[in-house]
Amino acid sequence: MAEGGVAGAAGRHALVTGGASGIGAAACTALLADGWTVTSLDLRPSPLAGVASVVGDVTDEAGLRAAVASTGPLHALVCSAGVSGSSVGDGPVWSADAAAFDAVLAVNLRGAFLAAGAAWPALVAQPGAAIVTVSSVLGLTGGGGPFRSHAYIAAKGGLVSLTKALAAAGAEHGLRANCVAPGLVRTPLAGRVSSDPALSEWVAAKQPLLGDLLDPADVGGLIAFLCGDAARAVTAQTIAVDAGWQLD
Ligand SMILES: NC(=O)c1ccc[n+]([C@@H]2O[C@H](COP(=O)([O-])OP(=O)(O)OC[C@H]3O[C@@H](n4cnc5c(N)ncnc54)[C@H](O)[C@@H]3O)[C@@H](O)[C@H]2O)c1
Repeated sequence: MAEGGVAGAAGRHALVTGGASGIGAAACTALLADGWTVTSLDLRPSPLAGVASVVGDVTDEAGLRAAVASTGPLHALVCSAGVSGSSVGDGPVWSADAAAFDAVLAVNLRGAFLAAGAAWPALVAQPGAAIVTVSSVLGLTGGGGPFRSHAYIAAKGGLVSLTKALAAAGAEHGLRANCVAPGLVRTPLAGRVSSDPALSEWVAAKQPLLGDLLDPADVGGLIAFLCGDAARAVTAQTIAVDAGWQLD
């Protein structure tokens, strides 16, 4: 590497929660292409060739610690595991209940908190390590229109602040933490949108750059960039990948 230059990722290891599908899988693919060794931690094995799988649950604190211990030195953590609000009874505050709130927060916010905690000692041991969390444009805007999963929106907003806290604490160790906030992406989690023509049309209008849902690769490439040394001076940022959702 030239002095002041950017190292390649060869020999570096990334752990991706939710790596078996959608945005997490796209992050695995992009990281592999950049030369990373990649492990997916998910409820199910990764279908991707070249990705090691740990079958685990981000709500299981002891399991996360064991997974980190078993996979060796760690240079990046991607927190992509998540569930949609609608899959667990989420909705607006006047109709959703505490059980729905807890179910959404357990995976989407508490899961990232626990994964970052489990990975922290391994990450701070490696100069130039990185954490990337996956929020949502809904967490930045509050949703609106047909998107009223208030617990999901709260969880995704919480991830922005959690990421800033991780960046503040990590800087003295050379550890960076950044957040990506996707618009609506064509994955199983967004199946409700894909299968509803009126909702798809609403989303297409909100994402004028594409007039469609995003492809998971639109997000996976940014995650890999943020993990790597090309982003070595970037921390505490939330970057929307939303095809223009926030333009008015
Ligand atoms: N799809 C979208 O439109 C969209 C938009 C913004 C943000 N996001 C966020 O992106 C992330 C990835 O979602 P996706 O769209 O790729 O969905 P997806 O359903 O394709 O992938 C989610 C993955 O998380 C895993 N998972 C769920 N609960 C888990 C748990 N307790 N422990 C471990 N793994 C678990 C699932 O098995 C699945 O493989 C989520 O955090 C989601 O909230 C998605």
